[in-house]
This record gives sequence, structure tokens and C-alpha cells, in this order.
Amino acid sequence: MSKYLVTGGAGFIGSHLVDELIKQGNEVVIIDNLSTGKKENLNSKAKFFNVDICSPVIKKIFKSEKFDYVFHLAAQIDVRVSVAKPEFDNKVNAMGSYNIFKNCGLNKVKKVVFISTGGALYGDCLKPAKERTLIQPISPYAIHKYTAERYLELCYDLYNLNYVVLRLANVFGPRQYSGGECGVIGLFTHNIANNKPSTLYGDGTKTRDFVYVLDVVGACLKAIAVKQRGVFNIGNGKEISILQIINAIKKVAGKKFVYKQEKDKVGEVQRSVLDSSKAKKILNWEPKVKLEQGLKNTIDWEMKK
Ligand SMILES: NC(=O)c1ccc[n+]([C@@H]2O[C@H](COP(=O)([O-])OP(=O)(O)OC[C@H]3O[C@@H](n4cnc5c(N)ncnc54)[C@H](O)[C@@H]3O)[C@@H](O)[C@H]2O)c1
Repeated sequence: MSKYLVTGGAGFIGSHLVDELIKQGNEVVIIDNLSTGKKENLNSKAKFFNVDICSPVIKKIFKSEKFDYVFHLAAQIDVRVSVAKPEFDNKVNAMGSYNIFKNCGLNKVKKVVFISTGGALYGDCLKPAKERTLIQPISPYAIHKYTAERYLELCYDLYNLNYVVLRLANVFGPRQYSGGECGVIGLFTHNIANNKPSTLYGDGTKTRDFVYVLDVVGACLKAIAVKQRGVFNIGNGKEISILQIINAIKKVAGKKFVYKQEKDKVGEVQRSVLDSSKAKKILNWEPKVKLEQGLKNTIDWEMKK
């Protein structure tokens, strides 16, 4: 049994990760300021600190709790907020992340797994992006997530802090919709389950690489087990258009999909797809959940809410 910190553990991906770590018999601490995370996502067996990752209190928590491993997921995740308030995005995603990594280094944490974004970092992809593909951030969100990756590398140099960075594709699954802005599948499945119309930004030809949340949790666990330090893409490797997603959701829900069209949003890439062959080779990770099954689980969760 090890002691884990999960920042962002009240959020969509973080809460699934916490559940799995606890299921495996580990001790888990969550740091989350509940800005987008939800109290109902908190696993009752985890210790919870309602604290901002930018706060000086983080130092005290690290000193008293003594974590073996840290998963850092807490972030400002809305690209549009990052465009409107780049200073705020910088504070949370770059400096807040550095605050976590520095404290990991000072307190001799065995390894940090940082959840970064492949979807945003590589910009438009004409073919599946590899880890060595040129970084082309087109939003403050992407710039600051990449800055956090560089701070982590700096902490390796300064403190010999072991780490893995997972650059995720577009994640979907139960708990993604939390009332605010979230991924397209989260919004669309919420709307169709509740007989509400959706908004399609652009003409629907934009593409994304969708990966199911429990496959991401699987990758997180493999990242702890692996010996090699480094950066890994975590995606399905399939480029799927938003129109294809609409059709798949319609089919799985067995309902009409009502939507209106609006102009595209600023800071959004047109085509995004990741090559995860490095994760397959070194982490021994592959996505297992098919799109239709993942959509079914997500819609079922929406219906039960
Ligand atoms: N969902 C995706 O498709 C996707 C894709 C690539 C990367 N990611 C990354 O995965 C991570 C988790 O994202 P998610 O989709 O679960 O989003 P989420 O919004 O559900 O989770 C983020 C969590 O961080 C918490 N948080 C935000 N700011 C904080 C702060 N200053 N201090 C403490 N807690 C704070 C929120 O309350 C929330 O619980 C993020 O780092 C995000 O950048 C997500």
C-alpha cells in the first residue's frame, strides 16, 4: 500500500483515478478547490483538502502528509477562459503546477505523474502527432500546460524528481458533464439524455481523438509502474469528426439529436489525433473501451442522475 496525492481529485478524470487507487487498497489524499470539481465526486475513503494549488498551505500539506506518489490533475481546463483571462490561466496551470512539483521535489516524492494535453499542445495535426512532433500551442491553456511540463523537467534537474507526463487526447465518460463548459461528448450526451438542444460550433468537420476515462486511469497506473522517465501520448489514434460523434450518440441513445449551428470558437484546433505507439511499447498501455461502449456508459450515467 502506498500513499498518493491526487490534485483535482474532485474532478472528472481525477475522481475516477481516486476510486481506482482506493479500490486497490491505497491511501489517497485529494487537493481540490472545487472550482469545477464536485463534492459528490469525492470518494469518502479519501482525505480531502479544499485548497488551491497556488496557496502557500500546499507546503504544509506536503510536510505533514508525506506522499509516496503524486498525480497532478488540478487545472483551469477551459480554453475560452484561458483566452479571456491568460493571467489567471498562467497562475493556475503554470505557477500552481510549479508549486506542486517544487514541493514534490523538496519532500522526496518518489514520482509525479503530470496530466498534460496532447489535444492542445500539437495544434493542427495532418497525421497522428508523436511525442517529438513540434509543439504548436494556439491558446494560453496550451502554452501554460507546456510551461508546466518544462517546470517538471526543471524539478528533475533541481531535485532529481522522477516523473511521467501523460499528454491526453480528448477524454470522455461519466462525470464529465458538471454543469459548466466541458468536452463535446459530455455536453452532447447530457443534452440528448435531458431532451435539450445542443450547439454545434463550426460545420462539424473538426476532428478529435477520443479516449475513454477508465482507459486514462489505466494509463495513470502504468505510469507509476514504468521505470522510464518521459512523456507519453494517450489517445485512440483515430480521427473522428464531430458529425460522426453526433451520429454515434444518436444511434446509442436511440433518439433524435437536435442542434443549432454557431461560428467556431477562438483557440480551437481543427484536426487533432495522437500516435500512442510509445505508450504501447514502453507503458504496455492500449485503449480497451470502444467508442460506442463508452458513449453508452456515459449516456446511462446521465439518465441515472
Ligand atoms: N478532459 C479532457 O479531455 C482532458 C484532455 C487533456 C488533458 N486534460 C487534463 O486533465 C486534467 C483533469 O481535467 P478534467 O477533464 O478532469 O477537468 P475537471 O475540471 O473536472 O478537473 C479539474 C479539477 O481541478 C480542480 N481545480 C481547478 N483549479 C484548481 C486550483 N487552482 N486549485 C485546486 N484545484 C483546482 C477543479 O475543481 C477540478 O476538480 C486537467 O489537468 C486537464 O488539463 C483533460
